[in-house]
Amino acid sequence: MGSQGKCGRHARCIFHRKGCALLGILNRQELGGTDSIMRVTVIGTGYVGTVTGACLAYVGHRVTCVDTDERKIARLRNGEPVIYEPFLEELLALAAGRGGIDFQTEVGGPAAESDVIFIAVGTPPLPSGEADSSYLEAAARSIGAAMDGARFRVVVNKSTVPVGSGNLVETLVREGIADARPGERRHIRFGVASNPEFLREGCALADSLYPDRIVIGASDEGSLGIMRQLYQPLVEQSFEAPPGVPRPAGLGKVPLFATTLTSAEMIKYAANAFLAMKIGFANEIANICERVGAEAPEVMTGIGLDSRIGKRFLSPGVGWGGSCFGKDIQSLLHTAREYGYESRLLQASLDVNTAQRQMVIQKLQEKLYILKGRTIGLLGLAFKPDTDDLRDAPSLHIAERLLAMGARVKAYDPIAMKACREQRPDLKIRYCESAGDLAQESDALVLVTEWQEFRTLDLASLAGRMATRILVDGRNLYTAEAATAAGFDYTGIGRTARARTAEQREARAAPGEARP
Ligand SMILES: NC(=O)c1ccc[n+]([C@@H]2O[C@H](COP(=O)([O-])OP(=O)(O)OC[C@H]3O[C@@H](n4cnc5c(N)ncnc54)[C@H](O)[C@@H]3O)[C@@H](O)[C@H]2O)c1
Repeated sequence: MGSQGKCGRHARCIFHRKGCALLGILNRQELGGTDSIMRVTVIGTGYVGTVTGACLAYVGHRVTCVDTDERKIARLRNGEPVIYEPFLEELLALAAGRGGIDFQTEVGGPAAESDVIFIAVGTPPLPSGEADSSYLEAAARSIGAAMDGARFRVVVNKSTVPVGSGNLVETLVREGIADARPGERRHIRFGVASNPEFLREGCALADSLYPDRIVIGASDEGSLGIMRQLYQPLVEQSFEAPPGVPRPAGLGKVPLFATTLTSAEMIKYAANAFLAMKIGFANEIANICERVGAEAPEVMTGIGLDSRIGKRFLSPGVGWGGSCFGKDIQSLLHTAREYGYESRLLQASLDVNTAQRQMVIQKLQEKLYILKGRTIGLLGLAFKPDTDDLRDAPSLHIAERLLAMGARVKAYDPIAMKACREQRPDLKIRYCESAGDLAQESDALVLVTEWQEFRTLDLASLAGRMATRILVDGRNLYTAEAATAAGFDYTGIGRTARARTAEQREARAAPGEARP
Protein backbone atom coordinates (compact mmCIF):
# COMPACT_ATOMS: atom_id res chain seq x y z
CA MET A 1 0.00 0.00 0.00
CA GLY A 2 2.86 2.30 0.83
CA SER A 3 3.75 3.24 -2.75
CA GLN A 4 0.13 4.01 -3.46
CA GLY A 5 -0.15 6.63 -0.74
CA LYS A 6 -2.56 6.78 2.17
CA CYS A 7 -6.28 6.80 1.69
CA GLY A 8 -7.97 9.34 3.92
CA ARG A 9 -11.46 7.99 3.48
CA HIS A 10 -11.57 4.24 4.10
CA ALA A 11 -10.17 2.22 6.96
CA ARG A 12 -9.47 -0.85 4.82
CA CYS A 13 -9.23 0.72 1.38
CA ILE A 14 -6.56 -0.59 -0.96
CA PHE A 15 -7.45 1.67 -3.90
CA HIS A 16 -5.10 4.52 -3.27
CA ARG A 17 -3.51 4.88 -6.67
CA LYS A 18 -5.93 7.34 -8.18
CA GLY A 19 -7.73 8.25 -4.99
CA CYS A 20 -11.01 6.82 -3.91
CA ALA A 21 -13.05 9.78 -5.07
CA LEU A 22 -11.96 9.17 -8.67
CA LEU A 23 -13.05 5.58 -8.38
CA GLY A 24 -16.40 6.70 -7.07
CA ILE A 25 -16.03 4.88 -3.77
CA LEU A 26 -18.31 6.13 -1.05
CA ASN A 27 -17.06 6.75 2.46
CA ARG A 28 -18.17 4.62 5.40
CA GLN A 29 -20.69 7.14 6.65
CA GLU A 30 -22.39 7.25 3.24
CA LEU A 31 -22.71 3.47 3.41
CA GLY A 32 -24.49 3.47 6.74
CA GLY A 33 -21.58 4.13 9.07
CA THR A 34 -20.19 0.58 8.91
CA ASP A 35 -16.52 -0.27 8.99
CA SER A 36 -17.06 -3.24 6.77
CA ILE A 37 -15.92 -2.17 3.30
CA MET A 38 -13.98 -5.05 1.82
CA ARG A 39 -12.04 -5.87 -1.27
CA VAL A 40 -13.72 -8.73 -3.14
CA THR A 41 -12.92 -10.82 -6.22
CA VAL A 42 -15.63 -12.87 -7.91
CA ILE A 43 -14.43 -15.56 -10.33
CA GLY A 44 -17.00 -16.34 -13.06
CA THR A 45 -19.30 -13.73 -14.59
CA GLY A 46 -22.36 -15.85 -15.31
CA TYR A 47 -25.73 -15.40 -13.62
CA VAL A 48 -24.35 -15.94 -10.13
CA GLY A 49 -21.00 -14.15 -10.43
CA THR A 50 -22.29 -11.01 -12.14
CA VAL A 51 -25.25 -10.63 -9.78
CA THR A 52 -23.10 -11.32 -6.69
CA GLY A 53 -20.48 -8.81 -7.83
CA ALA A 54 -23.04 -6.13 -8.67
CA CYS A 55 -24.90 -6.52 -5.36
CA LEU A 56 -21.77 -6.54 -3.18
CA ALA A 57 -20.44 -3.44 -4.95
CA TYR A 58 -23.84 -1.78 -4.64
CA VAL A 59 -23.77 -2.21 -0.84
CA GLY A 60 -20.31 -0.67 -0.74
CA HIS A 61 -17.63 -3.31 -1.26
CA ARG A 62 -14.93 -2.89 -3.90
CA VAL A 63 -15.39 -5.73 -6.38
CA THR A 64 -13.47 -7.16 -9.33
CA CYS A 65 -15.23 -9.78 -11.44
CA VAL A 66 -12.98 -12.16 -13.36
CA ASP A 67 -13.81 -14.44 -16.26
CA THR A 68 -11.67 -16.40 -18.71
CA ASP A 69 -14.14 -15.52 -21.47
CA GLU A 70 -12.68 -12.35 -22.99
CA ARG A 71 -15.87 -11.63 -24.95
CA LYS A 72 -17.93 -11.51 -21.75
CA ILE A 73 -15.42 -9.27 -20.01
CA ALA A 74 -15.30 -6.87 -22.97
CA ARG A 75 -19.09 -6.52 -22.90
CA LEU A 76 -19.21 -6.11 -19.12
CA ARG A 77 -16.57 -3.37 -19.30
CA ASN A 78 -19.02 -1.54 -21.55
CA GLY A 79 -21.65 -1.87 -18.85
CA GLU A 80 -23.48 -4.52 -20.84
CA PRO A 81 -24.49 -7.68 -18.92
CA VAL A 82 -24.03 -10.92 -20.85
CA ILE A 83 -27.22 -12.34 -19.42
CA TYR A 84 -30.74 -10.98 -19.40
CA GLU A 85 -31.79 -10.15 -15.85
CA PRO A 86 -34.20 -7.28 -15.09
CA PHE A 87 -32.41 -4.15 -13.73
CA LEU A 88 -28.95 -5.77 -13.80
CA GLU A 89 -27.58 -3.21 -16.24
CA GLU A 90 -28.86 -0.37 -14.04
CA LEU A 91 -27.49 -1.99 -10.88
CA LEU A 92 -24.05 -2.45 -12.47
CA ALA A 93 -23.97 1.28 -13.27
CA LEU A 94 -24.96 2.17 -9.71
CA ALA A 95 -22.47 -0.34 -8.27
CA ALA A 96 -19.65 1.32 -10.22
CA GLY A 97 -20.43 4.60 -8.47
CA ARG A 98 -20.77 3.10 -4.98
CA GLY A 99 -18.28 0.41 -3.92
CA GLY A 100 -16.83 0.23 -7.41
CA ILE A 101 -16.76 -2.73 -9.78
CA ASP A 102 -14.41 -3.67 -12.61
CA PHE A 103 -13.92 -6.65 -14.90
CA GLN A 104 -10.73 -8.58 -15.65
CA THR A 105 -9.58 -11.72 -17.40
CA GLU A 106 -6.68 -12.43 -15.02
CA VAL A 107 -7.36 -13.49 -11.46
CA GLY A 108 -3.84 -12.93 -10.07
CA GLY A 109 -3.85 -9.20 -9.29
CA PRO A 110 -7.40 -8.89 -7.94
CA ALA A 111 -7.14 -12.08 -5.85
CA ALA A 112 -3.86 -10.92 -4.29
CA GLU A 113 -5.51 -7.65 -3.22
CA SER A 114 -8.74 -9.21 -1.93
CA ASP A 115 -10.02 -10.14 1.50
CA VAL A 116 -12.68 -12.41 0.00
CA ILE A 117 -12.44 -14.41 -3.23
CA PHE A 118 -15.64 -15.97 -4.50
CA ILE A 119 -15.68 -18.91 -6.88
CA ALA A 120 -18.85 -18.70 -9.01
CA VAL A 121 -17.91 -20.81 -12.03
CA GLY A 122 -20.17 -23.33 -13.73
CA THR A 123 -20.50 -26.91 -12.50
CA PRO A 124 -22.32 -28.57 -15.42
CA PRO A 125 -23.30 -32.24 -15.30
CA LEU A 126 -21.05 -34.94 -16.73
CA PRO A 127 -22.74 -37.82 -18.60
CA SER A 128 -22.55 -39.83 -15.33
CA GLY A 129 -24.67 -37.21 -13.54
CA GLU A 130 -21.67 -36.17 -11.49
CA ALA A 131 -20.98 -32.41 -11.37
CA ASP A 132 -18.04 -31.36 -13.54
CA SER A 133 -15.67 -29.75 -11.04
CA SER A 134 -12.95 -28.94 -13.56
CA TYR A 135 -13.76 -25.18 -13.70
CA LEU A 136 -13.84 -25.05 -9.91
CA GLU A 137 -10.51 -26.84 -9.73
CA ALA A 138 -8.87 -24.49 -12.23
CA ALA A 139 -10.22 -21.46 -10.34
CA ALA A 140 -8.97 -22.80 -6.98
CA ARG A 141 -5.46 -23.41 -8.36
CA SER A 142 -5.33 -19.93 -9.90
CA ILE A 143 -6.29 -18.43 -6.52
CA GLY A 144 -3.48 -20.38 -4.85
CA ALA A 145 -1.01 -19.08 -7.41
CA ALA A 146 -2.07 -15.50 -6.60
CA MET A 147 -1.72 -15.77 -2.81
CA ASP A 148 1.01 -14.14 -0.78
CA GLY A 149 1.49 -13.55 2.92
CA ALA A 150 0.23 -9.95 2.93
CA ARG A 151 -3.18 -10.72 4.41
CA PHE A 152 -5.61 -13.42 5.52
CA ARG A 153 -8.05 -14.26 2.70
CA VAL A 154 -11.22 -16.26 2.56
CA VAL A 155 -11.85 -18.41 -0.51
CA VAL A 156 -15.61 -18.79 -0.81
CA ASN A 157 -17.35 -21.40 -2.86
CA LYS A 158 -20.56 -20.02 -4.35
CA SER A 159 -20.82 -22.56 -7.15
CA THR A 160 -23.09 -25.51 -6.39
CA VAL A 161 -20.57 -28.24 -5.75
CA PRO A 162 -20.64 -31.83 -4.52
CA VAL A 163 -20.29 -32.40 -0.82
CA GLY A 164 -16.60 -32.37 0.07
CA SER A 165 -15.65 -29.71 -2.47
CA GLY A 166 -14.68 -27.27 0.29
CA ASN A 167 -11.94 -29.69 1.29
CA LEU A 168 -10.94 -30.11 -2.36
CA VAL A 169 -10.73 -26.33 -2.83
CA GLU A 170 -8.49 -26.03 0.22
CA THR A 171 -6.16 -28.72 -1.14
CA LEU A 172 -6.05 -27.13 -4.61
CA VAL A 173 -5.35 -23.65 -3.23
CA ARG A 174 -2.50 -25.14 -1.16
CA GLU A 175 -1.17 -26.88 -4.27
CA GLY A 176 -1.41 -23.61 -6.21
CA ILE A 177 0.56 -21.85 -3.46
CA ALA A 178 3.16 -24.64 -3.34
CA ASP A 179 3.70 -24.42 -7.11
CA ALA A 180 3.94 -20.61 -7.20
CA ARG A 181 5.72 -19.87 -3.91
CA PRO A 182 7.20 -23.06 -2.51
CA GLY A 183 9.34 -21.20 0.03
CA GLU A 184 6.54 -19.05 1.45
CA ARG A 185 3.70 -21.49 1.84
CA ARG A 186 3.86 -21.64 5.65
CA HIS A 187 3.33 -17.87 5.90
CA ILE A 188 0.37 -17.73 3.56
CA ARG A 189 -2.86 -17.88 5.49
CA PHE A 190 -6.32 -18.45 4.09
CA GLY A 191 -9.66 -19.99 5.03
CA VAL A 192 -12.27 -21.76 2.94
CA ALA A 193 -16.02 -21.14 3.21
CA SER A 194 -19.10 -22.38 1.44
CA ASN A 195 -21.77 -19.79 0.68
CA PRO A 196 -24.43 -21.49 -1.43
CA GLU A 197 -26.43 -19.31 -3.79
CA PHE A 198 -30.23 -19.43 -3.76
CA LEU A 199 -31.06 -16.75 -6.34
CA ARG A 200 -33.76 -17.37 -8.91
CA GLU A 201 -33.11 -16.15 -12.43
CA GLY A 202 -35.64 -13.47 -13.35
CA CYS A 203 -35.64 -12.01 -9.83
CA ALA A 204 -31.97 -12.55 -9.06
CA LEU A 205 -31.33 -9.01 -7.80
CA ALA A 206 -34.16 -9.04 -5.27
CA ASP A 207 -33.16 -12.54 -4.17
CA SER A 208 -29.58 -11.40 -3.62
CA LEU A 209 -30.30 -8.07 -1.95
CA TYR A 210 -33.21 -9.32 0.19
CA PRO A 211 -32.50 -13.02 0.70
CA ASP A 212 -34.57 -15.32 2.93
CA ARG A 213 -31.30 -16.39 4.53
CA ILE A 214 -27.55 -16.35 4.03
CA VAL A 215 -25.84 -19.67 4.65
CA ILE A 216 -22.15 -19.71 5.50
CA GLY A 217 -20.30 -22.95 6.03
CA ALA A 218 -16.83 -22.45 7.44
CA SER A 219 -14.33 -24.50 9.35
CA ASP A 220 -12.63 -21.60 11.18
CA GLU A 221 -13.83 -18.59 13.12
CA GLY A 222 -11.60 -16.18 11.15
CA SER A 223 -13.35 -16.98 7.87
CA LEU A 224 -16.77 -16.85 9.47
CA GLY A 225 -15.97 -13.44 11.00
CA ILE A 226 -14.93 -12.00 7.64
CA MET A 227 -18.06 -13.39 5.97
CA ARG A 228 -20.23 -11.84 8.68
CA GLN A 229 -18.52 -8.51 8.07
CA LEU A 230 -18.94 -8.83 4.30
CA TYR A 231 -22.66 -9.52 4.57
CA GLN A 232 -23.37 -7.04 7.36
CA PRO A 233 -25.15 -4.55 5.04
CA LEU A 234 -27.41 -7.34 3.77
CA VAL A 235 -28.05 -8.80 7.22
CA GLU A 236 -28.83 -5.36 8.65
CA GLN A 237 -30.53 -4.17 5.44
CA SER A 238 -28.68 -0.91 6.05
CA PHE A 239 -28.45 0.13 2.38
CA GLU A 240 -30.88 2.16 0.34
CA ALA A 241 -32.96 -0.02 -2.00
CA PRO A 242 -31.92 0.52 -5.63
CA PRO A 243 -34.51 1.83 -8.09
CA GLY A 244 -36.46 -1.00 -9.68
CA VAL A 245 -35.62 -3.47 -6.90
CA PRO A 246 -37.78 -2.37 -3.95
CA ARG A 247 -37.23 -3.87 -0.52
CA PRO A 248 -40.11 -6.20 0.44
CA ALA A 249 -42.45 -4.56 2.92
CA GLY A 250 -41.69 -5.51 6.49
CA LEU A 251 -38.31 -7.10 5.76
CA GLY A 252 -36.26 -7.02 8.95
CA LYS A 253 -32.85 -8.51 9.60
CA VAL A 254 -31.82 -11.32 7.26
CA PRO A 255 -30.77 -14.45 9.13
CA LEU A 256 -27.17 -15.52 8.59
CA PHE A 257 -27.00 -19.23 9.31
CA ALA A 258 -23.50 -20.49 10.12
CA THR A 259 -22.83 -24.20 9.57
CA THR A 260 -20.05 -26.63 8.84
CA LEU A 261 -18.68 -26.64 5.29
CA THR A 262 -20.34 -29.96 4.52
CA SER A 263 -23.73 -28.91 5.85
CA ALA A 264 -23.68 -25.73 3.75
CA GLU A 265 -22.90 -27.77 0.63
CA MET A 266 -25.69 -30.19 1.48
CA ILE A 267 -28.20 -27.38 2.21
CA LYS A 268 -27.97 -26.17 -1.38
CA TYR A 269 -28.61 -29.61 -2.86
CA ALA A 270 -31.37 -30.42 -0.38
CA ALA A 271 -33.13 -27.09 -1.07
CA ASN A 272 -33.14 -27.61 -4.84
CA ALA A 273 -34.16 -31.27 -4.53
CA PHE A 274 -37.07 -30.30 -2.30
CA LEU A 275 -38.30 -27.51 -4.58
CA ALA A 276 -38.10 -29.76 -7.65
CA MET A 277 -39.94 -32.48 -5.76
CA LYS A 278 -42.67 -30.02 -4.72
CA ILE A 279 -43.29 -29.03 -8.36
CA GLY A 280 -43.18 -32.68 -9.40
CA PHE A 281 -45.73 -33.50 -6.72
CA ALA A 282 -48.06 -30.78 -8.00
CA ASN A 283 -47.74 -32.22 -11.52
CA GLU A 284 -48.43 -35.78 -10.35
CA ILE A 285 -51.55 -34.64 -8.50
CA ALA A 286 -52.63 -32.57 -11.54
CA ASN A 287 -52.38 -35.64 -13.76
CA ILE A 288 -54.61 -37.56 -11.36
CA CYS A 289 -56.98 -34.56 -11.14
CA GLU A 290 -57.43 -34.68 -14.93
CA ARG A 291 -58.48 -38.28 -14.74
CA VAL A 292 -60.89 -38.00 -11.84
CA GLY A 293 -62.37 -34.65 -12.90
CA ALA A 294 -60.91 -32.43 -10.19
CA GLU A 295 -59.55 -28.93 -10.79
CA ALA A 296 -55.80 -29.04 -9.99
CA PRO A 297 -55.32 -25.29 -9.24
CA GLU A 298 -58.15 -25.52 -6.70
CA VAL A 299 -56.60 -28.62 -5.16
CA MET A 300 -53.21 -26.86 -4.92
CA THR A 301 -54.77 -23.81 -3.30
CA GLY A 302 -56.55 -26.11 -0.90
CA ILE A 303 -53.39 -27.89 0.19
CA GLY A 304 -51.18 -24.78 0.02
CA LEU A 305 -53.29 -23.07 2.67
CA ASP A 306 -51.90 -25.61 5.09
CA SER A 307 -49.01 -23.71 6.71
CA ARG A 308 -46.97 -26.93 6.85
CA ILE A 309 -47.15 -27.14 3.04
CA GLY A 310 -47.23 -23.51 1.83
CA LYS A 311 -48.67 -22.28 -1.43
CA ARG A 312 -45.50 -21.61 -3.47
CA PHE A 313 -44.06 -24.05 -6.04
CA LEU A 314 -47.39 -25.84 -6.36
CA SER A 315 -48.39 -24.68 -9.86
CA PRO A 316 -48.92 -27.61 -12.22
CA GLY A 317 -47.32 -27.18 -15.63
CA VAL A 318 -45.04 -28.70 -18.24
CA GLY A 319 -42.35 -29.41 -15.66
CA TRP A 320 -39.40 -27.56 -14.25
CA GLY A 321 -36.26 -26.69 -16.21
CA GLY A 322 -33.23 -24.46 -15.87
CA SER A 323 -29.60 -24.98 -15.15
CA CYS A 324 -29.93 -26.15 -11.56
CA PHE A 325 -32.68 -28.57 -10.56
CA GLY A 326 -31.87 -31.43 -12.92
CA LYS A 327 -28.11 -31.12 -12.58
CA ASP A 328 -28.20 -30.78 -8.80
CA ILE A 329 -30.51 -33.75 -8.28
CA GLN A 330 -28.30 -35.85 -10.58
CA SER A 331 -25.26 -34.76 -8.63
CA LEU A 332 -26.87 -35.54 -5.26
CA LEU A 333 -27.95 -38.96 -6.55
CA HIS A 334 -24.38 -39.57 -7.66
CA THR A 335 -22.98 -38.56 -4.26
CA ALA A 336 -25.53 -40.76 -2.47
CA ARG A 337 -24.51 -43.71 -4.68
CA GLU A 338 -20.86 -43.10 -3.85
CA TYR A 339 -21.89 -43.72 -0.26
CA GLY A 340 -23.90 -46.82 -1.14
CA TYR A 341 -27.30 -45.16 -0.88
CA GLU A 342 -29.95 -45.34 -3.61
CA SER A 343 -32.35 -42.41 -3.26
CA ARG A 344 -35.61 -43.53 -4.83
CA LEU A 345 -37.39 -40.27 -4.07
CA LEU A 346 -34.79 -38.17 -5.92
CA GLN A 347 -34.82 -40.53 -8.90
CA ALA A 348 -38.63 -40.42 -9.03
CA SER A 349 -38.47 -36.63 -9.02
CA LEU A 350 -36.36 -36.66 -12.20
CA ASP A 351 -38.54 -39.31 -13.88
CA VAL A 352 -41.80 -37.50 -13.11
CA ASN A 353 -40.43 -34.30 -14.61
CA THR A 354 -39.31 -35.97 -17.84
CA ALA A 355 -42.73 -37.58 -18.20
CA GLN A 356 -44.46 -34.25 -17.60
CA ARG A 357 -42.80 -32.68 -20.64
CA GLN A 358 -44.10 -35.57 -22.71
CA MET A 359 -47.62 -34.77 -21.47
CA VAL A 360 -47.78 -31.85 -23.94
CA ILE A 361 -47.15 -34.19 -26.86
CA GLN A 362 -49.88 -36.51 -25.62
CA LYS A 363 -52.35 -33.65 -25.33
CA LEU A 364 -51.56 -32.56 -28.90
CA GLN A 365 -52.01 -36.13 -30.12
CA GLU A 366 -55.37 -36.38 -28.37
CA LYS A 367 -56.54 -33.26 -30.17
CA LEU A 368 -54.86 -33.56 -33.59
CA TYR A 369 -54.28 -37.36 -33.79
CA ILE A 370 -51.52 -36.99 -36.42
CA LEU A 371 -48.66 -34.62 -35.64
CA LYS A 372 -46.67 -35.32 -38.80
CA GLY A 373 -46.94 -32.29 -41.09
CA ARG A 374 -48.82 -30.24 -38.49
CA THR A 375 -47.59 -26.80 -37.47
CA ILE A 376 -47.22 -26.28 -33.74
CA GLY A 377 -46.50 -22.82 -32.30
CA LEU A 378 -44.60 -22.54 -29.02
CA LEU A 379 -45.44 -19.49 -26.93
CA GLY A 380 -42.22 -19.08 -24.97
CA LEU A 381 -38.80 -20.76 -25.06
CA ALA A 382 -37.02 -19.59 -21.88
CA PHE A 383 -37.27 -22.07 -19.02
CA LYS A 384 -39.14 -19.39 -17.11
CA PRO A 385 -40.12 -15.73 -17.61
CA ASP A 386 -37.69 -12.82 -17.26
CA THR A 387 -34.64 -14.77 -18.32
CA ASP A 388 -33.08 -15.81 -21.62
CA ASP A 389 -31.71 -18.99 -20.05
CA LEU A 390 -32.52 -22.07 -22.11
CA ARG A 391 -30.58 -24.62 -20.11
CA ASP A 392 -32.74 -27.74 -19.73
CA ALA A 393 -35.77 -25.71 -20.87
CA PRO A 394 -38.94 -27.81 -21.38
CA SER A 395 -39.49 -25.92 -24.67
CA LEU A 396 -36.38 -27.51 -26.17
CA HIS A 397 -37.47 -31.01 -25.19
CA ILE A 398 -40.94 -30.39 -26.63
CA ALA A 399 -39.52 -28.91 -29.86
CA GLU A 400 -37.11 -31.84 -30.26
CA ARG A 401 -39.92 -34.39 -29.83
CA LEU A 402 -42.26 -32.59 -32.21
CA LEU A 403 -39.59 -32.21 -34.90
CA ALA A 404 -38.64 -35.87 -34.52
CA MET A 405 -42.30 -36.77 -35.07
CA GLY A 406 -42.42 -34.80 -38.31
CA ALA A 407 -44.24 -31.70 -37.06
CA ARG A 408 -43.28 -28.15 -38.09
CA VAL A 409 -42.32 -26.03 -35.07
CA LYS A 410 -42.66 -22.27 -34.80
CA ALA A 411 -41.76 -20.26 -31.70
CA TYR A 412 -42.12 -16.80 -30.27
CA ASP A 413 -40.34 -15.64 -27.09
CA PRO A 414 -39.93 -11.98 -26.08
CA ILE A 415 -36.27 -12.43 -25.04
CA ALA A 416 -34.85 -15.92 -25.59
CA MET A 417 -35.08 -16.37 -29.40
CA LYS A 418 -31.61 -14.95 -30.02
CA ALA A 419 -30.12 -17.35 -27.47
CA CYS A 420 -32.05 -20.26 -29.00
CA ARG A 421 -30.86 -19.46 -32.52
CA GLU A 422 -27.26 -19.30 -31.31
CA GLN A 423 -27.28 -22.26 -28.94
CA ARG A 424 -29.50 -24.69 -30.87
CA PRO A 425 -28.91 -24.18 -34.60
CA ASP A 426 -29.74 -27.88 -34.99
CA LEU A 427 -33.39 -27.27 -34.07
CA LYS A 428 -35.28 -26.35 -37.22
CA ILE A 429 -37.56 -23.87 -35.50
CA ARG A 430 -39.22 -21.02 -37.39
CA TYR A 431 -38.85 -17.96 -35.20
CA CYS A 432 -41.74 -15.47 -35.24
CA GLU A 433 -41.85 -11.76 -34.54
CA SER A 434 -45.02 -11.80 -32.47
CA ALA A 435 -47.66 -14.06 -30.99
CA GLY A 436 -49.90 -13.13 -33.92
CA ASP A 437 -47.29 -14.26 -36.43
CA LEU A 438 -46.93 -17.47 -34.43
CA ALA A 439 -50.66 -18.19 -34.55
CA GLN A 440 -50.89 -17.60 -38.32
CA GLU A 441 -51.87 -20.92 -39.97
CA SER A 442 -50.75 -22.95 -36.92
CA ASP A 443 -52.62 -26.11 -36.00
CA ALA A 444 -52.03 -25.67 -32.27
CA LEU A 445 -50.42 -23.26 -29.85
CA VAL A 446 -48.58 -24.50 -26.76
CA LEU A 447 -48.02 -21.99 -23.96
CA VAL A 448 -44.65 -23.05 -22.52
CA THR A 449 -43.36 -19.95 -20.68
CA GLU A 450 -45.67 -17.68 -18.71
CA TRP A 451 -44.22 -14.34 -19.87
CA GLN A 452 -46.15 -11.32 -18.63
CA GLU A 453 -47.03 -10.22 -22.18
CA PHE A 454 -48.76 -13.55 -22.81
CA ARG A 455 -51.23 -12.82 -20.01
CA THR A 456 -52.81 -10.02 -21.98
CA LEU A 457 -52.86 -11.54 -25.47
CA ASP A 458 -55.97 -11.03 -27.59
CA LEU A 459 -56.93 -14.71 -27.67
CA ALA A 460 -59.82 -14.21 -30.11
CA SER A 461 -57.51 -12.55 -32.62
CA LEU A 462 -54.97 -15.38 -32.26
CA ALA A 463 -57.65 -18.06 -32.67
CA GLY A 464 -58.90 -16.28 -35.81
CA ARG A 465 -55.51 -16.67 -37.49
CA MET A 466 -55.11 -20.39 -36.89
CA ALA A 467 -55.72 -23.38 -39.15
CA THR A 468 -57.02 -25.38 -36.17
CA ARG A 469 -57.87 -23.55 -32.97
CA ILE A 470 -56.15 -25.68 -30.37
CA LEU A 471 -54.49 -24.20 -27.30
CA VAL A 472 -52.48 -26.34 -24.89
CA ASP A 473 -51.89 -24.09 -21.89
CA GLY A 474 -48.79 -25.61 -20.30
CA ARG A 475 -48.78 -23.09 -17.43
CA ASN A 476 -52.53 -22.74 -16.75
CA LEU A 477 -52.22 -19.06 -17.65
CA TYR A 478 -55.73 -18.67 -19.05
CA THR A 479 -59.11 -19.69 -17.79
CA ALA A 480 -60.91 -22.34 -19.79
CA GLU A 481 -63.87 -19.96 -20.01
CA ALA A 482 -61.85 -17.12 -21.55
CA ALA A 483 -60.00 -19.37 -24.01
CA THR A 484 -63.17 -21.18 -25.02
CA ALA A 485 -65.04 -17.89 -25.44
CA ALA A 486 -62.18 -16.72 -27.72
CA GLY A 487 -62.81 -19.72 -29.95
CA PHE A 488 -60.13 -22.10 -28.73
CA ASP A 489 -60.34 -25.79 -28.05
CA TYR A 490 -58.54 -25.36 -24.72
CA THR A 491 -56.57 -27.82 -22.60
CA GLY A 492 -54.71 -26.87 -19.44
CA ILE A 493 -52.79 -29.01 -16.97
CA GLY A 494 -55.06 -30.82 -14.52
CA ARG A 495 -58.04 -28.68 -15.46
CA THR A 496 -60.60 -30.79 -17.29
CA ALA A 497 -63.13 -30.32 -14.51
CA ARG A 498 -63.28 -26.57 -15.04
CA ALA A 499 -63.49 -27.03 -18.83
CA ARG A 500 -66.35 -29.45 -18.48
CA THR A 501 -68.10 -27.15 -16.09
CA ALA A 502 -67.74 -24.33 -18.61
CA GLU A 503 -69.23 -26.49 -21.35
CA GLN A 504 -72.03 -27.51 -19.07
CA ARG A 505 -72.67 -23.89 -18.19
CA GLU A 506 -72.71 -23.02 -21.88
CA ALA A 507 -75.15 -25.84 -22.59
CA ARG A 508 -77.39 -24.68 -19.78
CA ALA A 509 -77.31 -21.13 -21.14
CA ALA A 510 -78.05 -22.21 -24.74
CA PRO A 511 -80.80 -20.21 -26.50
CA GLY A 512 -84.28 -21.54 -25.96
CA GLU A 513 -83.44 -22.96 -22.55
CA ALA A 514 -85.07 -20.61 -20.11
CA ARG A 515 -82.97 -20.01 -17.00
CA PRO A 516 -84.61 -19.52 -13.65
N1 LIG B 1 -27.92 -19.79 -12.53
C1 LIG B 1 -28.57 -19.94 -11.40
O1 LIG B 1 -29.75 -19.64 -11.29
C2 LIG B 1 -27.86 -20.49 -10.19
C3 LIG B 1 -28.47 -20.37 -8.93
C4 LIG B 1 -27.80 -20.87 -7.81
C5 LIG B 1 -26.58 -21.51 -7.95
N2 LIG B 1 -26.02 -21.64 -9.20
C6 LIG B 1 -24.72 -22.30 -9.31
O2 LIG B 1 -23.73 -21.29 -9.45
C7 LIG B 1 -22.68 -21.74 -10.32
C8 LIG B 1 -22.54 -20.77 -11.48
O3 LIG B 1 -23.76 -20.78 -12.20
P1 LIG B 1 -24.03 -19.76 -13.41
O4 LIG B 1 -25.42 -20.01 -13.86
O5 LIG B 1 -23.64 -18.40 -12.98
O6 LIG B 1 -22.97 -20.32 -14.47
P2 LIG B 1 -22.59 -19.72 -15.90
O7 LIG B 1 -22.24 -20.88 -16.73
O8 LIG B 1 -23.62 -18.75 -16.35
O9 LIG B 1 -21.24 -18.86 -15.61
C9 LIG B 1 -20.04 -19.44 -15.22
C10 LIG B 1 -18.91 -18.53 -15.69
O10 LIG B 1 -17.68 -18.99 -15.16
C11 LIG B 1 -16.67 -18.74 -16.11
N3 LIG B 1 -15.48 -19.54 -15.79
C12 LIG B 1 -15.31 -20.88 -15.87
N4 LIG B 1 -14.08 -21.23 -15.42
C13 LIG B 1 -13.46 -20.09 -15.04
C14 LIG B 1 -12.19 -19.79 -14.47
N5 LIG B 1 -11.30 -20.76 -14.19
N6 LIG B 1 -11.87 -18.52 -14.21
C15 LIG B 1 -12.76 -17.53 -14.49
N7 LIG B 1 -13.98 -17.75 -15.01
C16 LIG B 1 -14.34 -19.01 -15.28
C17 LIG B 1 -17.32 -19.07 -17.43
O11 LIG B 1 -16.64 -18.49 -18.52
C18 LIG B 1 -18.73 -18.51 -17.21
O12 LIG B 1 -18.82 -17.16 -17.67
C19 LIG B 1 -23.07 -23.15 -10.73
O13 LIG B 1 -22.45 -24.06 -9.87
C20 LIG B 1 -24.57 -23.18 -10.52
O14 LIG B 1 -25.05 -24.47 -10.25
C21 LIG B 1 -26.63 -21.13 -10.32
